Amino acid sequence: MFLSVRKLSSVTRKYLHNFHISINQSCTRIRFNTQHYCTMSNDTRNKFDLPKRYQGSTESVWVEYIQLAAEYKPLNLGQGFPDYHAPKYTTEALAAVAISDDPLANQYTRGFGHPRLVQALSNLYSQLVNRDINPMTEILVTVGAYEALFATIQGHVDIGDEVIIIEPFFDCYEPMVKAAGGVPKFIPLKPQTTGRVTSSADWVLDNGELQKLFNEKTKMIIINTPHNPLGKVMNQKELDFIANLCIKWNVLCVSDEVYEHMVFKPYEHVRICTLPGMWNRTITIGSAGKTFSLTGWKIGWAYGPEALLKNLQMVHQNCVYTCSTPIQEAIAISFETELKRLKSPHCYFNSISEELKLKRDYMAKFLEEIGMNPTVPQGGYFMVADWSALAPKVDLTQEIDARRDYRFTKWMTKTIGLQGIPPSAFYSESNKYLGEDLVRYCFFKKDENLRKASKILHDWKNTL
Ligand SMILES: Cc1ncc(COP(=O)(O)O)c(C=O)c1O
Repeated sequence: MFLSVRKLSSVTRKYLHNFHISINQSCTRIRFNTQHYCTMSNDTRNKFDLPKRYQGSTESVWVEYIQLAAEYKPLNLGQGFPDYHAPKYTTEALAAVAISDDPLANQYTRGFGHPRLVQALSNLYSQLVNRDINPMTEILVTVGAYEALFATIQGHVDIGDEVIIIEPFFDCYEPMVKAAGGVPKFIPLKPQTTGRVTSSADWVLDNGELQKLFNEKTKMIIINTPHNPLGKVMNQKELDFIANLCIKWNVLCVSDEVYEHMVFKPYEHVRICTLPGMWNRTITIGSAGKTFSLTGWKIGWAYGPEALLKNLQMVHQNCVYTCSTPIQEAIAISFETELKRLKSPHCYFNSISEELKLKRDYMAKFLEEIGMNPTVPQGGYFMVADWSALAPKVDLTQEIDARRDYRFTKWMTKTIGLQGIPPSAFYSESNKYLGEDLVRYCFFKKDENLRKASKILHDWKNTL
């Protein structure tokens, strides 16, 4: 800035008093007489850098590991989806809707949710939470649970608001909170025994630590039950403790319940919005992708009181506006099918847990046999296992990643052809070390592929 002023002043020194220089935070402006002469940005960043609100975000684990799978073609137990067909009636419904004679079947539908779908969701959740849910004002349909999380966080978190996030966490929570200007406050679930961890129920919050995180700046807590990646299903006592803190500090609870129908007996899913005093301060999030095993359909929803849902509608309206009509119609038809047999063991929401429980037990057994220590999940379709006992037998020097679990999972993908996900991706920077001895596998796979995974691991073990 100095140089350019000197240059200008040498040319027009006698008019120097007519120069006006104004400097503010973002730029420097120079005026000569009444002419605006030049403007210089004081910002040293490149004009097209990632905006500040997204800085610090790195490529997500999904982007990197999908690429890895495409390159090395391992048996992929990494990403969370089934490798076999969803209930036939779902895809048949979509096919029928797509070729229907109704000229509106494939056109824009209501922005906050296709009428037939919000009605079906209202019919289901009114029963599950034991209150009448208004389909038009208390439900918002979104592009997957992902967008429901985004709309909730953008719609409620203001600059400087504190948001409590339980670790490990579904990895988008942290960048979403930061992008909204919020300040994430982390608390890890930790194994409560010093001995061997066997069940996801062993992973607990320290109540004293949790209590200390709440203060007048706390706007929101995000919980996830059944939990990804641990499979923990929060019990009534744990939820009561969180609920009481939310009420005491006037905090909004966001409950990510995308695996709500995948809970293994004797455990039961408790919805925190049903606890006394919680309906008016809870937004609950669900996913058709998880509910009907159709993750590619990317339809989700948020439900809660109208006063809280309004904020989400604003974000959704100015971002996505409306979701796919035929897919919403097909999901509505699928819900209607299940609503008729909700209490029956044939209802998909009941049979899926039975199906997954067998797969869970099979995976837990083979992981144990090869010397990994699995945390047997109470719900969901992921299992984490501790591989540290095998660490001395693995040469991780080929990989350059800072985190051991990244090096281990990459080595496994490339060397023995089995892909898992590194759990440190689900922790904040300062707590990533807590996930480094673990690997996450998805067990919602064909039995033949689970058998293949078992064989790959046993064959590898035999070479050690
Ligand atoms: C805990 C959790 N929340 C939200 C999502 C996103 O769900 P959707 O695919 O419906 O966007 C996932 C997906 O894996 C998840 O595991």
